[in-house]
Amino acid sequence: MAGICDGRVVIVTGAGRGIGRAHALAFARAGAKVVVNDLGVENDGTGGGTGPAGEVVTAIRTAGGEAIANGADVASFEETRGLVKAAIDAFGRLDVVVNNAGFVRDRMFVSAGEDEWDAVIRVHLKGHYCTARHACDYWRAESKAGRPVDARIINTSSGAGLQGSVGQSAYSAAKGGIAALTLVQAAELGRYGITSNAIAPSARTRMTEGVFADMMKKPENGFDAMAPENVSPLVVWLASAESREVTGRVFEIAGGALSLADGWRTGAPFYKGARYEADEIGPVVRDLIAKSAAPQKVYGT
Ligand SMILES: NC(=O)c1ccc[n+]([C@@H]2O[C@H](COP(=O)([O-])OP(=O)(O)OC[C@H]3O[C@@H](n4cnc5c(N)ncnc54)[C@H](O)[C@@H]3O)[C@@H](O)[C@H]2O)c1
Repeated sequence: MAGICDGRVVIVTGAGRGIGRAHALAFARAGAKVVVNDLGVENDGTGGGTGPAGEVVTAIRTAGGEAIANGADVASFEETRGLVKAAIDAFGRLDVVVNNAGFVRDRMFVSAGEDEWDAVIRVHLKGHYCTARHACDYWRAESKAGRPVDARIINTSSGAGLQGSVGQSAYSAAKGGIAALTLVQAAELGRYGITSNAIAPSARTRMTEGVFADMMKKPENGFDAMAPENVSPLVVWLASAESREVTGRVFEIAGGALSLADGWRTGAPFYKGARYEADEIGPVVRDLIAKSAAPQKVYGT
């Protein structure tokens, strides 16, 4: 299975289903050795089991690739320490962490419960911290020992995190946080040979089937724009040695459309040269808004 990730060791979290599963299979086809992590939970994060990760490992091995299954909870600092160790123990090294696992508990903000808020923030935001943090310990030690490091963190944000999404306040907050985390990781980790980029994908999975039912319909013929497999080539390329100079970027990928998200930028300022009085703010704000581009629509509005 030679390809652009030949010999690279990759952890994909949440790789038992949906987009992560497509990544794991694509990595194996590209020559990578894959740690297929998945807790096997329901769409709302409840339950759990080893079935989905095991099935993906079997599919990779049947096709001649190398993979192991791992059942760590991505938001457990201790369990993800074991996840990183499992990769190094099995394959002798680690090159790439793809943070992908997550679930949703959609609710309008006015009725979002504390437990739902905490669960969604935990799995996405803390879930993007834990595995990468342990991997960075390993990569920094390798770099300090003088061994070459050409490592990658690939995070999974969402259009919800870039533009907001009605009914998904906690999810949007977590995914926006993941985009910001990516910028900081890129700025801090380059010195150790680590890049960090994020993707905001769109694909038909159990997470989106109910939400975008029409958009997610399978075509009867031709290009299936919403197949999860359409997202993975970008992730495989970002994980490869070819992407070395690309860091701190957020890519949107939907079907055959690949674009770079242009994030928050400081707009042209209005200078007073002294502290504003509160009653001076109104006209300045109206003028700033009139001269700025309209924001993109929040999903669901
Ligand atoms: N499908 C889309 O259009 C879309 C859009 C934007 C962002 N995303 C993001 O892409 C990622 C993958 O989503 P998907 O659509 O493939 O969903 P999915 O439900 O098909 O897959 C998610 C997987 O993550 C696993 N998981 C959940 N919590 C876990 C935990 N604590 N530890 C380990 N594994 C866990 C689940 O068991 C599941 O197999 C998510 O981060 C999601 O927010 C998806």
